[in-house]
Formats: sequence, structure tokens, C-alpha cells
Amino acid sequence: MGLFSKKEESILGVDLGASSVKMVELKKEKHQMHLVTYGFSSGELKMPDDDLEQRNLQAALIKKVAQGSKVKTKNVIASVPLSDVFSAVVRIPNVAKKEQTALIEREAQKFLPFPVAEAVVDWKVIEDKKKKDAKGKSFEHQKKEIASDIQALITAAPRSTVTRIADVFKRAGFTLKSLETEAFALTRSLIGNDPTSVLLVDVGAVRSNFFVVENTLPVMHRSMQLGGVNFTQALDNVLKVGLEKAEQMKSDIMSTGAIEADETGFPKIFQQTIQPLINEIRYTMNLYTTQQGGTHPERIVLTGGSSLLPHLDAFLSHTFNMKVFVGDPWARTWYPENLRPALYEIGTRFAVSVGLALREGQ
Ligand SMILES: Nc1ncnc2c1ncn2[C@@H]1O[C@H](COP(=O)(O)OP(=O)(O)OP(=O)(O)O)[C@@H](O)[C@H]1O
Ligand SMILES: [Mg+2]
Repeated sequence: MGLFSKKEESILGVDLGASSVKMVELKKEKHQMHLVTYGFSSGELKMPDDDLEQRNLQAALIKKVAQGSKVKTKNVIASVPLSDVFSAVVRIPNVAKKEQTALIEREAQKFLPFPVAEAVVDWKVIEDKKKKDAKGKSFEHQKKEIASDIQALITAAPRSTVTRIADVFKRAGFTLKSLETEAFALTRSLIGNDPTSVLLVDVGAVRSNFFVVENTLPVMHRSMQLGGVNFTQALDNVLKVGLEKAEQMKSDIMSTGAIEADETGFPKIFQQTIQPLINEIRYTMNLYTTQQGGTHPERIVLTGGSSLLPHLDAFLSHTFNMKVFVGDPWARTWYPENLRPALYEIGTRFAVSVGLALREGQ
């Protein structure tokens, strides 16, 4: 390395799902993250029961996708599977920093289904509404309210999960630099520094996830078993073309002319399938405002492959009378202009991996 040249390392963000892998390599140049390459595994991977076989299979898949996309770095930031993440918003007394850890661990133990000693625990202070409201009040009043307690978002995962993921990457020839939850990764790539209350809806292949993000922190998460496969099934029930063909037709069904749309452009044949998702959105927003005392989300940001169902954004916007749009995870990254159409198309599936890699740019 030259005396004055600083070698900038790139970083690989890896969204390691149960049956697929998506990765994005970014490199910091000047003050922006630049896209180096991206890749994903196609098709579902059938996982063996044996854990060691599973690790080897996942490692082989990571290696194959990385080689196929000519990944240059060995440094990885990966996501923890949502099923292994436990989080809650708690209040603790506003004590000295060194005493806070013990209090946080005691709170974490209340919602963890295993001993806190076996968990990796992380936490962030949430800007308190009570404190904000107290700003205009008398000094005595402020002192009383501010001194009393703090609100924190605790996130925890089993230590064994962390060890397991590090091992998978080691087997693939990579070094795991850090781990993060999907919630934080999505917040970084889709919300950035926007402090308003937003509902993030990730509609994947088999599951949908709902995150409320306020003050740039993912403060609530809910999940349900509904995703692309259900819409493929609904399409096949009507067209009787088989699941494989229905899957191919799904993104372009309006062009077949055989499908009727409602006034928003959303296909009528999906309206029954989408209903549980609508109920869950309504329920999550209510729960957040009533139980957690949060601000009602101002808008909905969609992501996940199934957020590209024709006119889903317009349909939800009409249903909830709110601003709804498909998030662009590349908005904070530099990339060659000619890649724009391709990146838009796959962006909904890469929001987690982009968010993971963007962590390095902070
Ligand atoms: N243009 C499109 N229109 C409609 N659906 C699409 C489109 N592109 C991809 N999908 C659907 O998106 C789904 C895959 O999305 P994604 O990659 O976000 O899921 P996943 O993260 O692997 O799934 P999960 O989170 O449920 O494990 C598939 O069901 C696929 O059919
Ligand atoms: Mg997903």
C-alpha cells in the first residue's frame, strides 16, 4: 500500500434465508457506498435435517453465488433469521451507564424463552415522547419527568445462532464481521434518517413481516404466514395452468387480458388472498398506537419480492387512505446508470442485503 493511498475494503451484505441466499457487495469511495456486485441463488433449497449437513450446504451455496457474481471481498455482514430474534421496548430507571447493562439483562430475561446468559443482547435508547413533551414545561416538571426513566429497544438472539452463522461463513471461506437483524438492515436501506413513523411491510415468498419504524428505530415487529406462494396458488385456482406456469405469469398477469382489475388496478382474483395481510396491517398500526403509545404511521413502505404484485401499492393506498410506495433500497448507493432498470426489478428482494452492507458506510 502506498504511503498516502488508503486502501478501501469492500463489504458483502448477505441475507441468508432458510432456503435462499442474496448478497450485495458495496465499497466506500469518497463519502458514498458504490455497488460492486450482487448475486442470489435461484430456486428453493431443500434443507437436510442434520445440522452439519445443513451448514455445509449453506456454505456451498454462499460460495457458489459469490463466485458466480465475482465477489471480491472476504468480509461479510449477515442477517440473523427473524425466527431467532427477540425484541421489546422497555422502560428502565435512568441510572448510571455501568448499572444499565444489568437492568437491561433483567428486562430481556422477561421476554426471552431461554437464559439471558445464553443470549447476545443489544440495546438502543429510544427518544422519549414524554421527554419531548416536557420540553415546553417548567424546569421542576422537566426535572421530575426526565430524571425518572428511559425507554430502550432491546434486541437479542441466542449465542448459539451467532456461533452457527459464523461457522457457516468460515466454511464458505468468509469472515463474519458482524451480524444484524433484518429489521435494522431494512430500516437502513429503506428509511435512512427519516424520523417519522413508518410501517414497513416485507411481503416475501412464504411470509410477510411488518415493522413499525419510528425515530429510525424498528420498534415493533409482527409476522404472518402469507406470501408469493399464496398468490401463485390463487392464480392457479382460477387459470388451472399449474403452479410453475402460474408463478411465471404472476408478474405480468394483466397483459393476459383474462384478468379483471378493481378501480386501483389490483387484480380482483387476489383480493381474497390479500385480506389477512390487510387485517394484519390494521392490527399492527392499532397495536402500536394503543399498546405501545407510538405515533400512527404516516405511510407504508413495501418491500419483498411480492410487493411487485401489480398495483399492490395503489390498492393498499386506497384501502388505508395513506401514502404507500415500494421502497428503493438503492437510493443511498451509487451504481452505473445503465443498471437502473435491472436494479429496480430486483431491489425489492435485496433490501436486507443492501441494508447490511450499508452499515459499513456509516
Ligand atoms: N415481479 C413480481 N411480481 C410478483 N411477485 C414477484 C415478482 N418478483 C418476485 N415475486 C415473488 O416474490 C417472492 C420472493 O420474494 P423474496 O425474495 O422477498 O422472498 P424471500 O425473502 O425468499 O421469502 P421469505 O421472506 O418468505 O422467506 C416469490 O414468491 C416471487 O414469486
Ligand atoms: Mg425475505
